[in-house]
Amino acid sequence: MKELPRVKFAHLPTPVEQMGRLAEMLGGPQLWVKRDDLTGLAFGGNKTRKLEFLLADARIKGSRTLITAGALQSNHCRQTAAAAAREGFDCILVLTTPQPPQTLSGNILLDQLFGAEFVWTTREQRDWTLEQVVAESSKAGRLPYLIPYGGSNPIGAAAYVFALEELLAQGFNPNWIVFATSSGGTQAGLVLGARLWGYEGGILGISVDESAEELRMQVSALANQTATFLGEKLSFSPEEIIVNADYLGEGYGVMGSVEIEAIRLFAREEGLLLDPVYTGRAAAGLIDLIRQGYFDQEASVLFWHTGGTPALFATAYQELGIQV
Ligand SMILES: Cc1ncc(COP(=O)(O)O)c(C=O)c1O
Repeated sequence: MKELPRVKFAHLPTPVEQMGRLAEMLGGPQLWVKRDDLTGLAFGGNKTRKLEFLLADARIKGSRTLITAGALQSNHCRQTAAAAAREGFDCILVLTTPQPPQTLSGNILLDQLFGAEFVWTTREQRDWTLEQVVAESSKAGRLPYLIPYGGSNPIGAAAYVFALEELLAQGFNPNWIVFATSSGGTQAGLVLGARLWGYEGGILGISVDESAEELRMQVSALANQTATFLGEKLSFSPEEIIVNADYLGEGYGVMGSVEIEAIRLFAREEGLLLDPVYTGRAAAGLIDLIRQGYFDQEASVLFWHTGGTPALFATAYQELGIQV
C-alpha cells in the first residue's frame, strides 16, 4: 500500500476498555469502547487521526491557511483550529448559524482560543460562502488549503483504514463495531480497512443526520475513492454498507430523551463522557439495539467513541435533565 505523508500529533494507539457495568445493566452482549475521545489535540476525537494526513498534504502543497466549514459547535472545526495552531497555519472557519452567537462556549470558545477566524453563514449559503472565502484568501496570497466537511475525503478517510489495523493489532476482533456516522469518512475508512486487514465483523454506523440510503451511497463512494487513492483494487457497493438511521429524532443536533438517557447511563455506569450530537445519539442507538436483541447475547460489541465532548459544555444542564 502507498505510504502516506503524515504529521504526527495523535496519541496512538487509543485504549480499548471494557464496559462491564453497562453491559451488566443492559443484560446484553459484552461491551467494549475504543477511546478515540483520547486521540489528543484539544480534547481529542476522530478528526485528530484524519488531520494528521490532511495537514501533511497541506504542507506538501505549500499552503499557509487551512479553511474548513461546519456547524457552530463543530468538533471538526475545533480540531482543525487546534491542528492549525500547532503546525503554524492560519485557520478560517466557515460556521453555519442563523445568527452569530451572543456567547462563546464549548467548541467555539476553543476555536477562538486557537486563533481561528470566523465567517458566519447559513446552512443554505454554506457551499457558496466557502467558495468565496477560498477565492478571497487565494487572491490575498494566503495560500489556502480547503479541508472538506468532516475531513472526509480519501486523505482523511485513509486515517480510519489505519485505525482499524491499530484495533486488530491491539488484539481486539469484536463481532460488531458501532459508532456515529455523518460525513462518512470514519465509516469509509473502517470498511476499507476491514477488507484490507481481514476483519469480518459488522461495521454499523448510526446516522446522526442523513438517511440510511444517502449514507450508504456516500460511504461506498468514498471507500472506493480511498481504495484508489491508496492504490488498492477494491470496490464497495452501497448494499454492503451497514447504516442505521432510526435515531434521527428531531434532527441534527437536537437532543431528545434517548440521547439524554445514553449520556447519563455512560456517565453513571462507566464514568465516560459522550457528546450531545454524535456519540450521544450513536450510544442511544446502541442501547436501543441491545434492548431489541439485535446483537447475539454472546457477541462482543465495540463502541468506537469518536469524541465531541467539548460540546457538552455548550449544553444547558436543564437540557440534560439535571436538577440543582
Ligand atoms: C464526535 C463526532 N463523532 C462522529 C462524527 C462523524 O464522523 P464522520 O464525519 O467521519 O462520519 C463526527 C463528525 O463531525 C464527530 O464530530
